[in-house]
Amino acid sequence: MILPIFTYGSPVLRKVAQPISLDYPDLDTLIQNMFDTMYNASGVGLAAPQVGLPIRIFVVDGAPMDDSEEGGENLQGFKHVFINPVILEETGEEWAFEEGCLSIPGIREEVWRPEKIRLKYQTPSGETIESSFEGIQARIIQHEYDHIDGVLFTDHLQGLKKQLIKSKLIRLAKGIHQAGYPTRLQKNK
Ligand code: NI
Repeated sequence: MILPIFTYGSPVLRKVAQPISLDYPDLDTLIQNMFDTMYNASGVGLAAPQVGLPIRIFVVDGAPMDDSEEGGENLQGFKHVFINPVILEETGEEWAFEEGCLSIPGIREEVWRPEKIRLKYQTPSGETIESSFEGIQARIIQHEYDHIDGVLFTDHLQGLKKQLIKSKLIRLAKGIHQAGYPTRLQKNK
């Protein structure tokens, strides 16, 4: 089932989300709905706060960004559900990559982040896994991980870039955008 994606200005996007237990009600359905919602919007990652739930879970599928035929990064197998993830460390040089966000339609900007992460997380079947990611895989995880801490990629912008998107963000917070998929703007509370 495709869920509406909560857009910029919705308070749920600013909450520090809570850990969940693996017997969270209808977890499998939620995960399937999150994938359906992400694919429908042509995204490569979606965090629970983006569908209105302040809980620490996100899904990713990097296949649309696969660049292996051009000698780039292979993202075909990069499909995961990350439950209660913890970034244990971020290492390597910071690099710039243009990010967008399904909750912030119409804005794309370069964001600087460290190139490698070490992540501990749970899977839906209850395994606890510790794994390293780099490049675009790390990038997608870092972006989604920010969501469960109430942080948006636009928060990382500085100076002139921040100034230039200010009016767009104000319009988004009023519900003015052309997302092309179902959205919801939550009222302040
Ligand atoms: Ni996002």
